[in-house]
Amino acid sequence: MSTETAAPVQLLNVQIDGIWMQFPKGTRVIEACSQAGKFVPRYCYHPRLSSPGNCRMCLIEMGMPKMGPDRKPVIGPDGKAEIGWIPRPQISCAQDVAEGMGIRTDSPMVKECRQGVMEFLLINHPLDCPICDQAGECQLQEFSVEYGNGGSRFLEHKVKKPKNVEVGPRVTLDAERCVLCSRCIRFMKEVAHDDVLGFVDRGSHSTIACHPDRTLDSNYSLNTVDICPVGALTSSDFRFKMRVWFLKETKSVCASCATGCNTIIGSRENIVYRQTPRENNDVNSVWMCDYGRLNFHQLQSPERLTNPTIKGPSGNEITQWEIALSRASTELKRHRGDAVAIIASGSLTNEELFLTRKLGDALGTKLIDIIPRNAEGDKILLSADRNANTAGARLMGVTGGVPGSLLGLISTGLKNKTIKTLIVIGEDATTTLGEEIANAQLILSVSMLPNGTTKLAHLVFPSVGFAEKRGSLVNKDGRLQRLNRAIQAPGAARDDWEIIRDLLHGVSGANGIYMIEDVFKQMAASIPALAGLSLSKIGDLGVPLKL
Ligand code: SF4
Ligand code: SF4
Ligand code: FES
Repeated sequence: MSTETAAPVQLLNVQIDGIWMQFPKGTRVIEACSQAGKFVPRYCYHPRLSSPGNCRMCLIEMGMPKMGPDRKPVIGPDGKAEIGWIPRPQISCAQDVAEGMGIRTDSPMVKECRQGVMEFLLINHPLDCPICDQAGECQLQEFSVEYGNGGSRFLEHKVKKPKNVEVGPRVTLDAERCVLCSRCIRFMKEVAHDDVLGFVDRGSHSTIACHPDRTLDSNYSLNTVDICPVGALTSSDFRFKMRVWFLKETKSVCASCATGCNTIIGSRENIVYRQTPRENNDVNSVWMCDYGRLNFHQLQSPERLTNPTIKGPSGNEITQWEIALSRASTELKRHRGDAVAIIASGSLTNEELFLTRKLGDALGTKLIDIIPRNAEGDKILLSADRNANTAGARLMGVTGGVPGSLLGLISTGLKNKTIKTLIVIGEDATTTLGEEIANAQLILSVSMLPNGTTKLAHLVFPSVGFAEKRGSLVNKDGRLQRLNRAIQAPGAARDDWEIIRDLLHGVSGANGIYMIEDVFKQMAASIPALAGLSLSKIGDLGVPLKL
């Protein structure tokens, strides 16, 4: 056993607006002020990026202990070192606290500095607020009200800069709104590792631009929109679609790869308008990729399946849930054991996968697996495993060590016609098994969108997308996280777990599951890694599982 203990954190005495406090060595002055409840406005500072100190919005008054003739700090009547104030303002974003440091965030000098910086930043800023996407979450608006003086001495004509510039396939620039903070430039260089942006031209004509022959086409480009403190960089997808104050915010996770970035889904009147990253330092820091961010559009597909269907003489005919489920119950009783195969999606929730496993057990089959979905990953966030819950599928026993290893057996069974019943949940089995699935006498498909399998299926049950359901997922690092419902599913589509629960009910009778919490309770009772947990105990940031 190691006897080493972590070195104690050195605490430094710092006076902020007259009150002495202690902060760990290495704390940025701007962060120390926030921790002391004295917010200091900032544009260029971002806690996850380097600090160039170029906007000057974070100016404060600062001082260090006065030294006596003996080169020792002069001690004041309060027993603390007296502070010798530096006669000019200092930026607070690019230096750390020091022993005996004094900080003033609300002195007349600081107020005057902030008013001056605001007036200067607004000299060439256009009056775009009424039509700017950033309105409602714009730091230029907010700080102007909070720290500006409401007036301008600038009588000349404003400099006009390019507007509506497509700097990349997903990002649009309004250059005259830019306050030249360089956050976007630093993000692309330091986090996305694609040094594509820079400043060009001088003085009032200075603007950001892509390097020659380059565009802002990184899979992380939309993070620049998130961190742009003003409305200069906007999402081409979200631009002019919705005022941000109308959006309902739902905390959830991205279900487009095994990383499981934490997100906020912005929706209004049952439509998702945008997805933005939510801070989770154990998963995605404060970033997410463009691919996952924009994947919500499939929810609004005009192709969405909205009613159950039964294959009839004229193709898939719309029917009622009771009729479709009763038909499924009758048909599923015909075959048992390895005459049945189940193919599930590796992006289903744990609850859905748990019930899928139970359905497989009730039907006595071992032929149950997911279809692996691999593509190129990167060393930032995007995982090569594009299934959101491969780890959960393993935990629930829907797949083994190597996902998809039973697909070969299932394919052979379909070829030989020994598989009579094929249940496909959240997947298109034809992508891997081809048209051979048509050899099955009964194909049940649970799907949100039409695909090759729904075309061949005898019964199709319309299901829901990631933003339309609750449930849990396990990411590639074994972190249990929660999906939350932001919008209702269209038409008569139902939660996947309810559909699988009803199929299970048809095969093996009542199962005591009425709510999704009941599913989790059964999971927690039978899977040791989930013991003691519940959906509500997972919390907004998830919990690491001992797998
Ligand atoms: S575009 Fe936005 S993030 Fe980039 S330098 Fe300008 S204000 Fe800053
Ligand atoms: S990295 Fe993965 S989980 Fe994160 S946003 Fe992209 S697709 Fe979604
Ligand atoms: S936030 Fe400190 S100089 Fe910009």
